[in-house]
This record gives sequence, structure tokens and C-alpha cells, in this order.
Amino acid sequence: MSAEATVLSQIKDSYAIVTLNRPDKLNALNVETVQLLGNIMSDLQNDDQVRAVILTGAGPKAFVAGADIKEIAELDGSGSDFAGSGQQVFRAIEKMTKPVIAAVNGFALGGGCELALSCHIRLASDNAKFGLPEITLGVIPGYGGTQRLPRLIGRSRALQLMLTGGMVSAEKAADVGLVNEVYTSEELLPAAEKMAGKIASLAPVAASLILQSVYEGGETDLDSGLAIEAENFGKVCNTEDARIGTSAFLEKRKPEFTGK
Ligand code: COA
Repeated sequence: MSAEATVLSQIKDSYAIVTLNRPDKLNALNVETVQLLGNIMSDLQNDDQVRAVILTGAGPKAFVAGADIKEIAELDGSGSDFAGSGQQVFRAIEKMTKPVIAAVNGFALGGGCELALSCHIRLASDNAKFGLPEITLGVIPGYGGTQRLPRLIGRSRALQLMLTGGMVSAEKAADVGLVNEVYTSEELLPAAEKMAGKIASLAPVAASLILQSVYEGGETDLDSGLAIEAENFGKVCNTEDARIGTSAFLEKRKPEFTGK
């Protein structure tokens, strides 16, 4: 790990921990940090050793407190490009073929909430706070918040958060399905690592096809989604891991998946 980098990456056996690292700015995402995050996630996507990724923030206060407001203040005609390039990085994270777990260890506001929304699973510490406060700055969410939040928690709840600029606690976020589980600050990363380790011990092709079926199927009608699932079921049945998993069950032993 490099001490200066604004995004750190550490590979632990079969999963990686990626840490947004601007704690003095509550890990706010400037353009450079977003690009670095994109490069690191792309490297992890291409690394066969890595079967799951945890995203978290440095320091005790914040996951990510938003896009860097200093940069937003200087945008004039280039707002669409600014939003578009961040959206590209977040979309690539969402489309990763290995599960990405957000370990939300404090404020997840604006771009931070949007980053968590781009992850596949969200765990939070009990001091975490979620919100899309862009309207309080006179702007709107630009890294996918207007699209992903309503899809996850419903249009009405999402609109309330965006139109009031308010924040919700981790507990409330869990009540509305924005967060899967809430832990104490000390328990959060160990819990995320335990989950990543569990996922990494299972069949990676199956994991990637679950992600693809859920995301692509979720964007279409039920019949088309079922067709995607059936096609992916066909693909997974042809993997070595499907033979390993089913025969291990029938022979009453633990499967050792190969990733093939
Ligand atoms: N962009 C740039 N800098 C940010 C930032 C952001 N989104 N969020 C926090 N910071 C910086 C602060 O400017 C401050 O820097 P400084 O010490 O050089 O003055 C530092 O991080 C610490 O933040 P501070 O506001 O002093 O902490 P706090 O505990 O009093 O308040 C928040 C925490 C999260 C409530 C507050 O920082 C905040 O409202 N941040 C902006 C949230 C937001 O609107 N995000 C959406 C952006 S589109």
C-alpha cells in the first residue's frame, strides 16, 4: 500500500479491500480519486486471484462525504462531462463480475451514497449516515443517485431524500433496504471480510452469473429476465465447479471450487 495514494488497495488471499483515503476531507471524491478508483477496480476485475472486493473509507467519520464540492463549485459548462466520467467508473463497478461489498463506515453523502449504491451489497456501521444533499448546494445528484436510489428503495422515499437533502441513519437505511446489515464500527470491517471470504470460497462463475442475471434481468420484463436466467443456468451447468459442487454434495464432502 502507498501512504500517499487517495485510494488504497490491499489483496488478502482471495478478496481485496479498497479504501478511499482522503480522511482530512472525509474521503470526498475529487476527479483524480475517481479515476484512480476506476483504475484500481479495473485491475481487480482482471485479477483472477480476487473473487470479491470490499470498498470502505479511511478514518472513523466517513465512507465518502460526496463529490469534492471545491471542484463542483468550479464547473461551468463541463458539468455533463464531470457527471458522465464519474458515472462511467461507478457503472463499471456495478458491472464487475465479482461481488463488491460497500463497508460504509460513516457519512455516505452525495457521491459517497452513489458509490455505495453502485456496489452489490451494503453493510454499515451504526454511525453511518446516508443522503443525497446535492439540492442544498443548488445542484442534483450526478453519479447515478437519481436512478439507482429510486430503483432500490422506491421513488417516493428516494424523492424525499433528494428533495429535502436530509440524511438517514444506518438503522433507518436498513429499514428501507438501502443497507443489508448494521454493525458497530469495530465489527464492520471484520463482518465485511467474513462475507467476502465466504463469497470467495464459493463458485466464482456462479457468482458472476448471479450478478448478471439479477442486474440485466432487473432492467427488463419478467419473461426476458427469465430467459437471461435460463441461458446463464445453461452456461453454469457446463462449468467444472458445477460438477465439483454437485458431486461433493452427493458424496457428502466439502467442495473445493476451482473457478473453472
Ligand atoms: N467536498 C469537499 N470537501 C469536503 C466534503 C466534500 N463533499 N465534505 C467534507 N469536506 C471537507 C470539509 O470542507 C473539511 O475540510 P477543511 O478541514 O479543509 O475545512 C473537512 O472535509 C471536514 O469536514 P467538516 O465539514 O469540517 O466535518 P463535520 O464533521 O463538521 O461535517 C459533514 C461533516 C459530512 C456533515 C460535512 O462535511 C458536509 O456536509 N459535507 C458535505 C456533504 C455534501 O454536501 N456532499 C454532497 C456533495 S455533492
